[in-house]
Amino acid sequence: MSNIVSIAVFASGSGSNFQAIQEAIECGELNAKIELVVTDKPGAYVVERAKAKGIPVLALSPKDFGSKEAFEQAILAKLQECEVKWIVLAGYMRLIGETLLNSYNSKIVNIHPSLLPSFPGKDAIGQAMEHRVKVTGVTVHFVDAGMDTGPIIAQRAVAVTDGDRVATEQAIHAIEHDLYKEALQATLK
Ligand code: GAR
Repeated sequence: MSNIVSIAVFASGSGSNFQAIQEAIECGELNAKIELVVTDKPGAYVVERAKAKGIPVLALSPKDFGSKEAFEQAILAKLQECEVKWIVLAGYMRLIGETLLNSYNSKIVNIHPSLLPSFPGKDAIGQAMEHRVKVTGVTVHFVDAGMDTGPIIAQRAVAVTDGDRVATEQAIHAIEHDLYKEALQATLK
């Protein structure tokens, strides 16, 4: 495989998107290498998933740092040591600050479980259900200083199963796992 792009995956939760990305790499659908998983939640299940795949983890609690800048400087030092070229957010539930934005200008992407600009922020699926929308979806976008803003790379619609949150969540996750690998393959250079 040529032109393998070094990436870091940032996650705060279960890490099913991390797993889908890693499996896409393993089966040759995505020309990338996950050099590092970064989490702001040392107890998150993504840590187990990364260890099972033999991928190094940087787990840092923001509360152990005096400022967001200090927290991101610690992350940045490790990203540079690992020669990471792109940051891939996969359920990372924290706004990216200036330190990382300046160093990874236009090289940070995110996935969000709605058709942005609808339902940014936390619990996008819950927000969609509350509004009783019939169609929601998934968005992959470049990251800027805003909350789930930034130019859109790819979107896919998902029908909402009437009032059934679990079914809707499952449908969204299945689409996410497909769409992210395709969008990454088209975007990472
Ligand atoms: C995903 O649905 C992702 O789109 C969402 O968190 C979930 C993480 O799932 N991200 C956001 O809401 C970002 N604003 P995972 O840990 O199983 O990959």
